[in-house]
Amino acid sequence: MSHQSDLIETDIEAYLEAHENKSLLRFITCGSVDDGKSTLIGRLLYDSKMIFEDQLEALEADSRKLGTQGDNIDFALLVDGLAAEREQGITIDVAYRFFSTDKRKFIVADTPGHEQYTRNMATGASTADLAILLIDARKGILTQTRRHSFIASSLGTRKLVLAINKMDLVAYDEAIYKKIEQDFLEFAEELNAGIEIQAIPMSALKGDNITGPSAATPWYTGPSLMEYLETVPVGREQETLPFRMPVQWVNRPNLDFRGFSGQIASGTIRPGDKIKTLPSAKETTVSKIVTQDGDLDVAIAGQSVTLTFADEVDTSRGDVICASNDPAEVSDQFQARVLWMAEDAMLPGRRYLLKIGAKTVTAQLTGLKFRIDVNDLRDCPATKLNLNEVGVCTLSLDQPIAFDPYDVNRKTGGFILIDRLTNNTVGLGLMDFALRRAANIHWQALDVDRAALADQKQQKPAVLWFTGLSGSGKSTIANALQKQLHAMAKHTFVLDGDNVRHGLNRDLGFTDADRVENIRRVSNVAKLMSDAGLITLVSFISPFRSERRMARNMMTEGEFIEIHIDTPLEVAEQRDVKGLYKRARAGEIKNFTGLDSPYEAPIDPEICINTVNTTPEDAAAEIVKWLEDKGMLGS
Ligand code: ADX
Repeated sequence: MSHQSDLIETDIEAYLEAHENKSLLRFITCGSVDDGKSTLIGRLLYDSKMIFEDQLEALEADSRKLGTQGDNIDFALLVDGLAAEREQGITIDVAYRFFSTDKRKFIVADTPGHEQYTRNMATGASTADLAILLIDARKGILTQTRRHSFIASSLGTRKLVLAINKMDLVAYDEAIYKKIEQDFLEFAEELNAGIEIQAIPMSALKGDNITGPSAATPWYTGPSLMEYLETVPVGREQETLPFRMPVQWVNRPNLDFRGFSGQIASGTIRPGDKIKTLPSAKETTVSKIVTQDGDLDVAIAGQSVTLTFADEVDTSRGDVICASNDPAEVSDQFQARVLWMAEDAMLPGRRYLLKIGAKTVTAQLTGLKFRIDVNDLRDCPATKLNLNEVGVCTLSLDQPIAFDPYDVNRKTGGFILIDRLTNNTVGLGLMDFALRRAANIHWQALDVDRAALADQKQQKPAVLWFTGLSGSGKSTIANALQKQLHAMAKHTFVLDGDNVRHGLNRDLGFTDADRVENIRRVSNVAKLMSDAGLITLVSFISPFRSERRMARNMMTEGEFIEIHIDTPLEVAEQRDVKGLYKRARAGEIKNFTGLDSPYEAPIDPEICINTVNTTPEDAAAEIVKWLEDKGMLGS
């Protein structure tokens, strides 16, 4: 049993080299927990003499474990590994198994079947030529089957095998097989065009239609699974696309050598080829293709190489080297399809990290157009994306990136979304297209800048961000603080949740999604006010760490002061100044902060005020003192 991924790369290469001149088929198996996925893989390996009987039994025994733990099994004759997305500190368990027959070599991505592991399935599908969808003949097409087919086809898997398994348990009944096939074909009409579907009745356990025709299904005249896998044409798509190589690292061992290393995502490259590095769009010519085994005359998709250029062009990690005459697109706003893979819903307005190729940037979901129902593939309105849901959305990035639409290039059009706090992979995305508005809106530079505006007021701008429960005393303290600052001739303004919700944010309620949007808008207003040179007091519950962090990152370094008005729920509820707690307890108000909607207290605020033994005036004086000590109120 191995959980180390370091051996995979070299072992895969060694294995594949030994079978070099056979074509390679990459496939993925998808199914629910007890559909017999591991039995099927075991059977394929067994029948192609890759494992022996006792190992087949071990595999079957382990299949139950595979379903629950995403574990993989060690075989003497197999190179077996676990691909793990360790870089971001999270593990996606996909066991890659390798085997070959006389006709072809195979890589199968075996993924655990539980619903929460859709992410594993998606990881495997993004490189697969073909997906085997395991169906239990007794159960027929399940939501899981539809979801897997949709994800596999969205991810560019063009061939689907409908493996209608456990036919022995339905007495090899042709009518049952036909019905399942028909159900699936109806559903599949809505999938991407150009998907090829092959249904095969089988029993992985008994070996029916696995490597040859079965006497038990005389009514079936199609190929056995192995025949199909051995003969189905595989494209070499990536090689025929325009050249793309994301720069993994810049190689500069000495002053005379400067190379750009990475794995070629698509196309072909030769010394003398003209290239463009994106997003900077600098052009030059490739001088050499350097590898450990010497320089190459040509390199193709899939190879890892180091390129040297004829000119010094400024290229760094994460940039994409492209064919000069057919470069990728560059933008900071997109439409994309997102598969959400986290328990916590995806919320528009929230920021995530987006990793595409070798580049990681900050992304904000600016809009959710609709969600796709995996059962009938219809568009449904949505305000957020829950676990395993797929949605079409718009994204805005903090800097431009190079990309291709996913449907054009799977390698340069796919990305993952990462939660900024937990570092977990939370979403998988497919680029559709750049939004034109990204190119049409420019930043207008003004001569009277923020420094000039602040100087005129003889003060330093700041955003004093009050957070705390409803009734904690935020607004009362903000009011007292504004009075004290005003008396000191400071220019201030208070943005209060209740007030802003009367105008700018009157369309928002108290769902998580609305609260995120509420804070996104008010952060932008606070940002504008600080640009105008004001000391801005923001008094919003702002219950989520993620959005408070977003607000902090928007402001100029050092200007964001988080003030936690730390009043215990019991105290706020007992005061109940607005009578809202009473109404919420009576069930008249839903999603009430602290009751049935969460409040995430600041972990490390600049200032924390405990209101139990402090008057609002004293609290305000404490904040003034803090600001003075930090030199923020001038001399
Ligand atoms: S936030 O969570 O989105 O930051 P905000 O500060 O704008 O909230 O508004 C909170 C105010 O709205 C509370 O002080 C309270 O007067 C009122 N309110 C009405 N319904 C709710 C609710 N369900 N949860 C919290 N506050 C509510």
